[in-house]
Amino acid sequence: MSFEPFAMERWQSTWETRVRYNLSESGVHPLSLAELLALVGGTPADLGPVRLGYADTRGSAALREAIAALHPGAGPEHVVVTNGSAEANFCACWRLIEPGDRVAIVLPTYMQTWGLARNFGARLAPIWLREELGWQPDQAEAAAAIQPGTTLVIVTNPNNPTGAVLAAGTMAALARRADEVGAWLLVDEVYRGAEREGAPTPSAWGLGEHVLVTGGLSKAYGLPGLRMGWCVAPPALAEELWARKDYTTIGPGALSDALATRVLQPGVRGRVLERTRAVLRDNWALLERWLGARRPAVAFRAPDAGAICYARYPQGIESGSLAERLRRDHDVLVVPGAQFAMGNFLRLGFGLPAAQLAAALERVAAALDALGD
Ligand SMILES: Cc1ncc(COP(=O)(O)O)c(C=O)c1O
Repeated sequence: MSFEPFAMERWQSTWETRVRYNLSESGVHPLSLAELLALVGGTPADLGPVRLGYADTRGSAALREAIAALHPGAGPEHVVVTNGSAEANFCACWRLIEPGDRVAIVLPTYMQTWGLARNFGARLAPIWLREELGWQPDQAEAAAAIQPGTTLVIVTNPNNPTGAVLAAGTMAALARRADEVGAWLLVDEVYRGAEREGAPTPSAWGLGEHVLVTGGLSKAYGLPGLRMGWCVAPPALAEELWARKDYTTIGPGALSDALATRVLQPGVRGRVLERTRAVLRDNWALLERWLGARRPAVAFRAPDAGAICYARYPQGIESGSLAERLRRDHDVLVVPGAQFAMGNFLRLGFGLPAAQLAAALERVAAALDALGD
């Protein structure tokens, strides 16, 4: 079977540590261990007793309790802790997709689930988010894509790369339609909690009996280096996902489990999320000014969540070539729309320290200006 590489991750892993300015990241600049401990109200000495053996491979009971508490109606038996939400998505797709299956997927998206579905032999039915609808899907198109025989529907909410949150009614309609045709609904919620302002995005957990959600600490909590993720699923499916994990990474890192358990305690979690929101608010003000000055040539919608803005540029240059030019000539890494199977878009990350963001945007401006109109 042919292999679909993950173009965006390869682009990032090749260049992100080698460029001067990295606008390809979708989360806020990560916390250091010292900063995290200060937010948690602990000291390095607290970590001394953590035994570096194999942790409970499904995730410690305390951590699974804390994750379950974020998903109304869930208990620890619904939770499998994974190495990043990437592993949760992997195990879910591995378990739920057979060759020839019909899988409906909301696009654009973080292309991991798209690539996995292709690599596991699925036939894909896209449901495109429409720019003219504020990056919501057309309801009729969505219902048509989820036709009888569909076995899985995949959604990322809040969305990457658009930063848009699905209208609550739309999410419910997708869940109803998946249920009608007997499909599982997999919702990647790793950006949940990274809303710049307003209420947190409600979880899709509980929208049906065949719903599973994935999430983790990489984006809203600014802790991608902990590689901490999870899947929340009906207990029988959670057991099966755990069985898949025996083949992938066995269990979470013991230190990551211990730190994640502290981060998700009720009094602490809010402080970590607030730090993320503060970065998002401050830096968005900067990027919005920069983008606003380029309107209407450059089109964008303010993201609801995540440190990403998906902007459309007017020039004829193909997005992969533009991103390559930005990297090669200006030392700035962005993600081109081509890596989301789209046209003249750039995904601009704005979670890095503000001074770096400002300097990087100057370089992007120079590159765009050199292209003319
Ligand atoms: C929607 C989405 N899901 C999953 C991931 C993987 O994140 P992690 O494995 O660090 O949780 C990303 C990373 O960018 C993402 O954007």
